[in-house]
Amino acid sequence: MTIFSVDPARCEKDDLCLTVCPLRIIRAGADGFPAVAPEREAYCIACGHCAAICPRGAITLRDTPGAALTPLDKSLDVGFEAAAQLLKARRSVRHFNPEPLSRAQIMEVLDVTRWAPTGTNTQSLKWTVVDGFSRVRELAGLVVDWMRGVAAADPAMGKRLNLPGVIRAFEEGKDPVCRGAPHVVAVHAGRESVTPAEDAVIGLTYLELAAFARGYGTCWAGFVALGGKSHKPILDFLGIPPEEKLYGAVMLGRPRYRFARLPERKPASVAWR
Ligand SMILES: Cc1cc2nc3c(=O)[nH]c(=O)nc-3n(C[C@H](O)[C@H](O)[C@H](O)COP(=O)(O)O)c2cc1C
Repeated sequence: MTIFSVDPARCEKDDLCLTVCPLRIIRAGADGFPAVAPEREAYCIACGHCAAICPRGAITLRDTPGAALTPLDKSLDVGFEAAAQLLKARRSVRHFNPEPLSRAQIMEVLDVTRWAPTGTNTQSLKWTVVDGFSRVRELAGLVVDWMRGVAAADPAMGKRLNLPGVIRAFEEGKDPVCRGAPHVVAVHAGRESVTPAEDAVIGLTYLELAAFARGYGTCWAGFVALGGKSHKPILDFLGIPPEEKLYGAVMLGRPRYRFARLPERKPASVAWR
C-alpha cells in the first residue's frame, strides 16, 4: 500500500503538493498527476503539508483522505492584535483556585500541542499529568528531598538556588516548588526524537498558551525539571523510564487572580546585518 495517492477526479494538477513537500519527494508522473515513487517513500516525514495544501482534498496520505482533514475555519482567524495580546498577556500563575480541572479539560489543551513543530516531525513528546493536590504535594516533596541532597553536598549551589529557603517554606506547609497547583504536566521523550529539548520547550509553550486561552493558568515548574535531571525518585514518580528524559514541567490549574495590565519588558534586542 502506497503512502501517497491522489484522486484524479479531484486533482487539478496545480503542483501545490509538489511545491510544499519539504523533502521534495512528490513528482508529477507521466500522466501529470503527483506521485511518490516507492523508493522515495522512506523519506516522507508525514508532515501532511501535501494533503493540507490541496484545496480540493485530492490527496490521501497514509490512509487519511484529504477530504477527511479538518478544514480551516476563516471565522476563527484571530488577527495580529488579538494574537499579540494573547502572547503578551500570558503570565506565570502562582496562585490557584481550589477547584481542579477535569481530565477532559486538561486533554482539550494538551491536544493542541500535537500541532507544535517537532524536529523532522517525529511527534515523539510524551506527557505525564500529576493529577490532584495531594499527588502534586507528593511530587513537590520528592523535589525538596533532591534539594536537601544538593544543599548538603554543594552549599554554594544550594545558596545560589535559594534551596534552604525553599526547603524551609515547604516544611512550613507552603509549596514554593509547585505553588499549590492542582496539576503538574511533565514532558518527556525517548531517543526517537532528533531535537527532544527543543520539541519539549515548544510543546510546553503551546500548552501554556492553549491553557491561557481557555482561562487556565500555568507556570513553569523549573525545580521539578532540574531535580528530575539527577534525582531518580522524581522520574520514578512520574513514570519516566530510564530510556527517556524529562525535559520540563508546568503547573496547571484555575488562576485565583487575573492580571489587569501588561508588565514592562526589555525592548527586543535585534541586530540587522
Ligand atoms: C525555564 C523556566 C523555569 C521556570 N521555573 C519557575 C519555577 O520553578 N517557579 C516559578 O514560580 N516560576 C518559574 N518560571 C517562571 C518565570 O519566573 C517567569 O516566566 C518570569 O518571571 C516572567 O513572568 P511571566 O511568565 O509572567 O511573563 C520559570 C520560567 C522558565 C522559562
